[in-house]
Amino acid sequence: MKQMNEYIALIDRALETALQGTKDQQVLQAMAYSAEAGGKRIRPVLLLEFCRIAGGEVLKALPLACAVEMIHTYSLIHDDLPCMDDDDLRRGKPSCHKQFGEATALLAGDGLLTMAFEMIAGAELPAEICIGAVKILSARAGVHGMIGGQEMDLQNEEKGSKAKAEMLERTYALKTSALLQSACEIGVLAGGGSREAVQKAGEYAYHLGLAFQIVDDILDVTGDEMTLGKPIGSDEENGKATFVSLYGVDKAQKLASEHSDKALSTLQYFSGSGELKTLTEKLLFREK
Ligand code: IPE
Ligand code: IPE
Ligand code: MG
Ligand code: MG
Ligand code: MG
Repeated sequence: MKQMNEYIALIDRALETALQGTKDQQVLQAMAYSAEAGGKRIRPVLLLEFCRIAGGEVLKALPLACAVEMIHTYSLIHDDLPCMDDDDLRRGKPSCHKQFGEATALLAGDGLLTMAFEMIAGAELPAEICIGAVKILSARAGVHGMIGGQEMDLQNEEKGSKAKAEMLERTYALKTSALLQSACEIGVLAGGGSREAVQKAGEYAYHLGLAFQIVDDILDVTGDEMTLGKPIGSDEENGKATFVSLYGVDKAQKLASEHSDKALSTLQYFSGSGELKTLTEKLLFREK
């Protein structure tokens, strides 16, 4: 996983550069606070690795990787707000609204969302690739993607454990898989991969996302707050319907394994995807 750690170092540095400023603006401070708090960087790492596999230059795709991580960070800031999951700990630190207040946290999320597209516009890549990346990211993160999933997630709170498996799968596909799909698809696009390769990358990330969210829900029950860097028991407190509330931990873990296996079998399409295979396997048994 040496390659992955090198990617993370690149991403961290690029985000720091993008978010530096005089920092006299509270909102910019809040944006940097959340973005630099040290998340796992799964999405930008996937983007860069898919770009490499597709035959592209990783460094040129770095602004696109930052864009996806900015959207992800904004989604976490808003997800933690009192009107959403109401969680006070994120990435091992007080959540953005705890540190800066709700209004600034709201604006910091908006600021990151907007800056994501500025990053893409500024990438030194052919215009058609930048426009393609905007198309994918706006669709995957928008109302028919992540936002739509977050709304379904809120509606599922009211239905408790009676929520149907298909509806849960749809919710997870939108709230979690969609952004992972954007990362993998944009990576292939930036690397000059074929339309079919973009589609395969999306299929891989669909299943990876389902496995990822199911494991996240399991960790919300079985995890350790210090290791996880976010509160445990949040889903139960919010009466949230998850595959854990529906099936219990063991069956949920089995379902996560099934999706992880489907993701792995899709990877066979890509030659040189050994590191992605390792990452996919590691994510299934992660502790944070
Ligand atoms: C958390 O994502 C939100 C989910 C989709 C489960 P991550 O687990 O990737 O969070 P960070 O980026 O490592 O903090
Ligand atoms: C969040 O799912 C998915 C997002 C799009 C932010 P969760 O609400 O389970 O994520 P955590 O557990 O707070 O990271
Ligand atoms: Mg949530
Ligand atoms: Mg949450
Ligand atoms: Mg969670």
